Amino acid sequence: MKVTVLGAAGGIGQALALLLKTTLPAGSALSLYDIAPVTPGVAADLSHIPTDVSVVGFGGEDPTAALQGADIVLISAGVARKPGMDRADLFNVNAGIVKNLIEKVAATCPKACIGIITNPVNTTVPIAAEVLKKAGVYDKNKLFGITTLDVIRAETFISAAKGISLADIKVPVIGGHSGVTILPLLSQVAGASFTDEEVEKMTHRIQNAGTEVVEAKAGGGSATLSMGQAACRFALSLVKALSGEKDVIEYTYVDGGSEHAQFFAQPVLLGKNGVEKVLPYGKLSAFEQKALDSMLDTLQGDIKIGVEFVK
Ligand code: 2OP
Repeated sequence: MKVTVLGAAGGIGQALALLLKTTLPAGSALSLYDIAPVTPGVAADLSHIPTDVSVVGFGGEDPTAALQGADIVLISAGVARKPGMDRADLFNVNAGIVKNLIEKVAATCPKACIGIITNPVNTTVPIAAEVLKKAGVYDKNKLFGITTLDVIRAETFISAAKGISLADIKVPVIGGHSGVTILPLLSQVAGASFTDEEVEKMTHRIQNAGTEVVEAKAGGGSATLSMGQAACRFALSLVKALSGEKDVIEYTYVDGGSEHAQFFAQPVLLGKNGVEKVLPYGKLSAFEQKALDSMLDTLQGDIKIGVEFVK
């Protein structure tokens, strides 16, 4: 399996590359690209770690060499938030970056599964879809917005608050990857009960966890290490599923025929060709239904901006 990371010299990219180097199955290939000239050096650095995962790195304007033969492409390239910024504020810079990189993916490895990390994910995933459609190579089963960070944050916070072991906790998170569009389904967490006040507070904390990191980093960027871990977990699930393992399920933002929006994060059964089946997310509490209804204008607006950007 060949995994390519675009944006590999950045904060997320380097964390992700390190985690992939140490956890991909033996015999895998890791290919790193970033516009920054340090990228071959990042690959050289990683290559000294004794795992059976080969690693190469490419810098400069053209990611083509890094993309050749890729089975999975993970895109973290772009700028990060500073305090006071919303993910949507990144649109002007990151939209063009994602568009250009996806054009290269479409030309070089059109059958690869693509995982988008670059924010605003609610909008960059529709941008990627439109670029792939234009190139005539769009396969909706192979394009993913990585929302795993919302899931691992929810699991971490609720495990601590409710004393549930991290090994056992599962928290569904649906919708999108920004503010109110992030909807953790606390009513479905096995072994935990919440008062109305706890539901409100915990939901708000999960929705604003990215901002918590942006503020704590005080101008030095947004979440990189936890995002690297989240993207690595998602990528390893994809690797397993593409290799034929059964019952691999992740929550991810996909073009999955949702009644709510063209792109929606929900549970997905992964298989040899990407999405094998979009799964139902179950029954919502009254609080969750209300939160879902009131996020839709925002989510649909985010998607429309992406579609119009390419058109
Ligand atoms: C976050 O949620 C960076 O979007 C990322 O922190």
